[in-house]
Amino acid sequence: MLQYIESNKERFLSELFDLLRIPSISTDKKYKDDVIKAAEFLKNKLSEAGADNAELCATPGYPIVFAEKIIDEKLPTVLVYGHYDVQPADPLNLWTTPPFEPEIRNGKIYARGACDDKGQTYMHVKAFETMMKNGALPCNIKFMLEGEEESGSEHLEGFVTENKDKIAADVILISDTGIIANDVPAITVGLRGMSYMEVEVTGPNRDLHSGLYGGGVPNPINVLTKMIASLTDDEGKITIPGFYDKVEVLSDAQRAELAKAPFDQEFFKSEIGLKDVQGEKGYSTPERVSIRPTLDVNGIWGGYMEEGAKTVIPSKAHAKISMRLVPFQEPEEITALFTKHFESIAPESVSVKVIPHHGGDPAVIPTDSIAYKAASKAMESTFGKTPVPVRSGGSIPIVAMFKEQLGLDSILMGFGLDSDAIHSPNEHYGVFNFMKGIETIPYFYKYYAEMMKG
Ligand code: BES
Ligand code: MN
Ligand code: MN
Repeated sequence: MLQYIESNKERFLSELFDLLRIPSISTDKKYKDDVIKAAEFLKNKLSEAGADNAELCATPGYPIVFAEKIIDEKLPTVLVYGHYDVQPADPLNLWTTPPFEPEIRNGKIYARGACDDKGQTYMHVKAFETMMKNGALPCNIKFMLEGEEESGSEHLEGFVTENKDKIAADVILISDTGIIANDVPAITVGLRGMSYMEVEVTGPNRDLHSGLYGGGVPNPINVLTKMIASLTDDEGKITIPGFYDKVEVLSDAQRAELAKAPFDQEFFKSEIGLKDVQGEKGYSTPERVSIRPTLDVNGIWGGYMEEGAKTVIPSKAHAKISMRLVPFQEPEEITALFTKHFESIAPESVSVKVIPHHGGDPAVIPTDSIAYKAASKAMESTFGKTPVPVRSGGSIPIVAMFKEQLGLDSILMGFGLDSDAIHSPNEHYGVFNFMKGIETIPYFYKYYAEMMKG
C-alpha cells in the first residue's frame, strides 16, 4: 500500500488542491453554491474510489455527503466523519498568497481549509481509495461529511436521529484535531464544550454629541467594557456565580499523567509573538488551554470606527463572548448563568440584550477501548512512537452528540499541528502530515478489524 500511496502522491495533492480552490464558507450565504460544489466534489471522489450509494443527503441547511462500502454485514463498521466547509478567510490582506489559490511553500500547503478540515478529510478519501485498489479493506466503512461544522452543525443532529440505521456503525473515526509535533504523535481524548453569546448594551435612544451630553449620560461602550472586565478577576477566574460548580476536578495523579505530554513554553510564546503567557492562577499553560474553562471576547464593536475622529456617544455597544466548557459543565446551564449574571451587573441607566448563539458539550474519550488501541497501534506503526493521549482545548460538539444519540465513541486521530494557523490567515498543512495520515489510516482499519475479531 505504501508504494501505491507514494506513486500517487502528486495526483492526491492535485485533487486536494481542486477541493481547496472551492471557497466553501458555510457561515456566509454568498458562498452557498460553492459549499454545495465542495459536497458534490467529495461525493464524486468517493464514488470514483469505489464507494457505493454515494449521495448528497438534503438537510434544511447544507447537504451531508454519505457513502459506504459494506463488504460483509458480519464485519465491524467504521463511520468516518469530517467537514467540507471552512472558516471565512478574512483578513484577506494578511495572506501571503490568496486563501483559495493553494500553493506549496517549504513543504506546506497554504490555503483556507488545508488542515481544517479539507486536507484531513481528504486523507480518508485517499486512504479508502488505497485500501480499495489494493484489496485491503478489512471492514465496512461509511462516510458522513458535513458542511456546517464551522457554523455550528445546526442540522447534523436532526440528520443523525432520523438516519440511525443508515449510519449505524461500531465506532466513529475523525481527523479534525492534531498531533504534538511531527515526531510526537498524539490522539485527542478530550475536547472542550462551548457556550457562545452575543450582548448588546443600549444607552441613549440615538447617537449623541459627546460635548453636549458627555459626562451626564451612560456611554454604552464604557459600560460594556466595564461589565466585561468584571467577568474575570485578578487570578484569571470567571466571576459568574455558579460557573465552576460542575467543573471536573482532576486528581493530582491525572494532572501528572497529562503533564507527561511534551510542551515547549518558549516555542508556544515565540511562535505567536508573545513576551509572556497569562491565565488562571494555579494552572500550567497546557492545563489552561485544555482542562480549564475560559471566557473570551471574540469581537467588540460600536460607535465611530471610520477614518478620523468623530465626537459621539453611541447609542449601542456590542460584543461576542465565548466560553469554553469542560466536563461536566452544561452549555444550556452556563448560557442561563451568563445571561442572568450579565443582566444583573448592568447599571440602571442602560438596557442589555443577551443573545445566545451555538453551544456544544465537552467530550472525554476512553483510552481502554479496542478502537483507541487500534488507533494507537496504527500511529505507532507509521511514526515509530506510541501516541500520547492529549486533551485538546478545541471543540467538536458533535462528538458528545454522537455519544448521546448513537452511543458511539469517536476516535480523534488528527494529524494537524497547533502552528498550522487554522482559522487564521495563512492556514497551512504539511505535505508530510497529509501523506502520513493517508499512510496511517489503513493501519487503523487493519488493527481494528483484527482486534474486533478477538
Ligand atoms: N477542527 C476544529 C476543532 C479543533 C481543532 C479541535 C484542533 C481540536 C484541535 C473545528 O473545526 C472547530 O474549529 N471547532 C470550533 C467549534 C464550533 C462550535 C464552531 C471551535 O473549536 O472553535
Ligand atoms: Mn474542524
Ligand atoms: Mn474549525
